[in-house]
Amino acid sequence: MERFKGQVALITGACGGIGQAIARKLGSEGAYLILADQSADSLASLVSELQQSEVQVETIVGNLLNNDYCDQLPNKAFAMAGRLDIIANNAGLMRRGAITDSSDDDYALSFAINVEAPFRICRAAIPIMAQAGGGCIVNTASCWGLYPGPDHVIYCMTKSALATMTKCLGRDHAHQNIRVNAVCPNEVDTPMLRTGFKIRGLDPDKAIDTLNRSVPIGRIAQPQEIADVVAFLASDESSYMCGACVEVNGAKPVY
Ligand SMILES: NC(=O)c1ccc[n+]([C@@H]2O[C@H](COP(=O)([O-])OP(=O)(O)OC[C@H]3O[C@@H](n4cnc5c(N)ncnc54)[C@H](O)[C@@H]3O)[C@@H](O)[C@H]2O)c1
Repeated sequence: MERFKGQVALITGACGGIGQAIARKLGSEGAYLILADQSADSLASLVSELQQSEVQVETIVGNLLNNDYCDQLPNKAFAMAGRLDIIANNAGLMRRGAITDSSDDDYALSFAINVEAPFRICRAAIPIMAQAGGGCIVNTASCWGLYPGPDHVIYCMTKSALATMTKCLGRDHAHQNIRVNAVCPNEVDTPMLRTGFKIRGLDPDKAIDTLNRSVPIGRIAQPQEIADVVAFLASDESSYMCGACVEVNGAKPVY
């Protein structure tokens, strides 16, 4: 399948667990990739892997805390590749704890990366996509942005804001043939999840075994299972979906 042949996709958080899976998936289906993340070394190693599979790929290294970087990303991607069809606003970070454990820094950092960066990127990208006759934006929100997970108040607030922005933009820009949707995973086996276990002094493999038993389908998600849904939302197969927040949760509710 080459659903994205001739299309250009900008992916943020490209070097993370889910970001790499999105890059591999869209690249394997013909997309020309523009990968954004903060570590030049991690980007270089992903690029070299993708190029072995003959994926056309460029990078834009930078920190999403830098407003200019966010504002310029879509323009830079367009300038590099001559078009911009797909954006996966996937970068994110998780600060844990109840409100009484949450610092000003946790709050500011989480909103800057999880909300303000995709806001800025969408604001800059939409005129480019509108001018070209359309495009697709897929945001990585979370089930925890749709329902309140325990002891992650800031994370849940940010993902809720991202889910709401997705619904607003899906509605506001459908008339320009710009479809904005979100994937909302529950737990996924990535560095974000594993780091959380390490911080709490747990063995990540054992903790994931335990977590697997809490999911009706019998296991937490693998990153490629999220990337498959991102690819669907970025493809013509979801041509009537605008502003949807798609839960990908193995039937596990948030409780
Ligand atoms: N892993 C899960 O269980 C899970 C569940 C639901 C939603 N999500 C969401 O999925 C997305 C990807 O998460 P992941 O699990 O792959 O995490 P990850 O930690 O593996 O990857 C996150 C990526 O974002 C990048 N990033 C973070 N801060 C940045 C900054 N200041 N500038 C530039 N890039 C920055 C990191 O460098 C990293 O590559 C996130 O938005 C996350 O909230 C993850």
